[in-house]
Amino acid sequence: MSAPGTSRERYQALAREILEHDRRYHVDNDPIIADVEYDRLLAELRGLEAAHPDWVVAWSPTQRVGYTPVSEFAKVVRAVPMLSLDNTYSEADLREFHERVQKGLDGAEPEYVVEPKIDGIGIELYFTDGAFTRGLTRGDGRVGEDVTSNLRTVRTLPPLLAEGRTLEVRGEVYLERAALGPLNEARAAAGEEPFKNPRNAAGGSLKLLDPRLCAQRPLKVLLYELVDGSRVCATHTEALARLRRLGLPVSNEIRRVVGFAALAAQVAAWAERRDLLPYDADGLVIKVDRYAQREALGATSKFPRWAIAYKFPARQATTRVVDIEVNVGRTGTVTPVACLEPVELSGTTVARASLHNWDEVARKGLRRGDFVLVEKAGEIIPQVVAVLAERRTGDEQPITPPAVCPSCQAPLQRREGEVALRCPNQLGCGAQLKEALEFFAGKSALDIENLGPKLVEQLVDEGLVKDVADLFDLTIFTLLPLERMAEKSADNLVAALATAKEKATLSRLLTGLGIPLLGTVGARAVAQAYGSLEAMLAVQPPARFATELPRVQGVGEKMAQAVADFFGEERNRAVLGKLVARGVRPTEPQAAAGPLTGLALCVTGTLGQPRSAVQRAIEAAGGRFVAAVGKGTDYLVAGAGTGQTKLKAAAKHGVRVIDEAGLERLLRGSPVDDGSD
Ligand code: IVH
Repeated sequence: MSAPGTSRERYQALAREILEHDRRYHVDNDPIIADVEYDRLLAELRGLEAAHPDWVVAWSPTQRVGYTPVSEFAKVVRAVPMLSLDNTYSEADLREFHERVQKGLDGAEPEYVVEPKIDGIGIELYFTDGAFTRGLTRGDGRVGEDVTSNLRTVRTLPPLLAEGRTLEVRGEVYLERAALGPLNEARAAAGEEPFKNPRNAAGGSLKLLDPRLCAQRPLKVLLYELVDGSRVCATHTEALARLRRLGLPVSNEIRRVVGFAALAAQVAAWAERRDLLPYDADGLVIKVDRYAQREALGATSKFPRWAIAYKFPARQATTRVVDIEVNVGRTGTVTPVACLEPVELSGTTVARASLHNWDEVARKGLRRGDFVLVEKAGEIIPQVVAVLAERRTGDEQPITPPAVCPSCQAPLQRREGEVALRCPNQLGCGAQLKEALEFFAGKSALDIENLGPKLVEQLVDEGLVKDVADLFDLTIFTLLPLERMAEKSADNLVAALATAKEKATLSRLLTGLGIPLLGTVGARAVAQAYGSLEAMLAVQPPARFATELPRVQGVGEKMAQAVADFFGEERNRAVLGKLVARGVRPTEPQAAAGPLTGLALCVTGTLGQPRSAVQRAIEAAGGRFVAAVGKGTDYLVAGAGTGQTKLKAAAKHGVRVIDEAGLERLLRGSPVDDGSD
């Protein structure tokens, strides 16, 4: 605990120790001390710095964020511009590069290094006697900017090397793909333009004039060149190992290969692997490993002859929209899909692209026959990102949303405030049927054993089941003629249906019907309010649901409207009537009265028992289990790993936060000791 003396050496040793923990945490993702322990070390360091301001070193972990915003960055003009890389796009190009290299080396077989080409912002860093002293952007190669104070805030960049070396390194500052969403959400909330991609976000962050703001951006760095490495190493591979030893972050994805076949194989392997990287890579960089060979090869005025960029196939392509297909989803959402003139896009032929909804078609001004830009970014289904209006010929046809469902011809509806167009004939529409049946039979709904996707498909294709109620007409005799249907399976299914009919609660039935916006928690609230399916069918006119339900705890206006719409649709009522006629007459057990009666609890994080068990315990004690923290919530039960978002929401709505022990006390009926909060 107590420091052995408070000498300057002791202070510096402590600062180094903290930097080592920073590296383990931010670079290796392998911390060896607990957060409290780390905080204690940092507090101790701060104490020493407060007592001895003259001891403070620039590389101290407390000095990451300088407090002086600048009005602009100093421009640095290089006497000798930094070179960039020539590009190749195919194996044939790559072979030409290899042949040029071999020729330049008088036929010797070169060793290559293959690295991801990180799509970020190029930087060069200077370390003097081990301390980070200056960082510049690559800029256009000739003019860069001094962004030292912002680079100091980057957690994966150590302010001090493991040894007191003086060196210059090059690398890339970037943002992981996963960091873009949260950053853009925050920007949208603040009324700022979202960043188009992680690269723009990294560039924008590095250009922030206030390092305190930059410190809030989750920037990372990876280094890939030791400048003048030939003075200390024979190969680039050795130089990278040296950078690693000094504590600098270097990609783990760098591979050394010998011979063209191995090089081509390595490059081909990346076609699949590129999506597994947490950051965007727009290609690979292929470099000759041996410095002596690099020197022999030299450079042109623009590019080194010893390295080349291999660009990944583009994720965007242009093609023409030949038609618009109308797709009907499980809950009746009717969406447009663009049928395209087939086009090559990152290795596959693409003939269809998602358009999300009809508003978007209108917003983009898309017409049948238009040339469009399509993009495949991570997701499997390509998206139409832009309409190329300048390529119009005048023959393009406007696109109008359909008026009726393409499958069952029911007039389509659009609920107020919603972009989706829906087929309201949920229980009688063929396109929705297969998915609807699978969901109806699923675990969160009627939990009908032995009714899997294959069988659902057969039942629908053979015309045995035209809606969920038809399931309860199935008998051994109608099932047995089905292909591959054994007597035993038929027996089992009929028995499972009988059990489901007996056991189904109203809330499970409501969940299973797939009413838009109505999940398991909402379904339970609705079910408890009305008690039985027959009581719900007796609500007349069904529009009354829209006014009655919002008075029920846990039911919002949109959900209430969705229930009203569903029960207002004649075709749905017909199917519900059929269910009742076949003996499906579910009721809802009323909430138990107990110590939690009248209280709403939200559970988050990991508890000692499964979430479902916690939910049962809360409900058995009369409490309501709610999915999200809101103004009607009484307690947030926070388990291990509870996120900041939930805690902030709790603070905002004045919801009390308790742990699992606190919940147990509540369940026993004892008051929670809420200390000072
Ligand atoms: S080596 C002379 N290696 O790509 C060659 N560059 O024009 C020096 N880049 O803007 C570059 N990842 O910022 C190299 N593993 C990598 C790279 C990489 C990304 C960027 C670099 C520069 C461009 C090359």
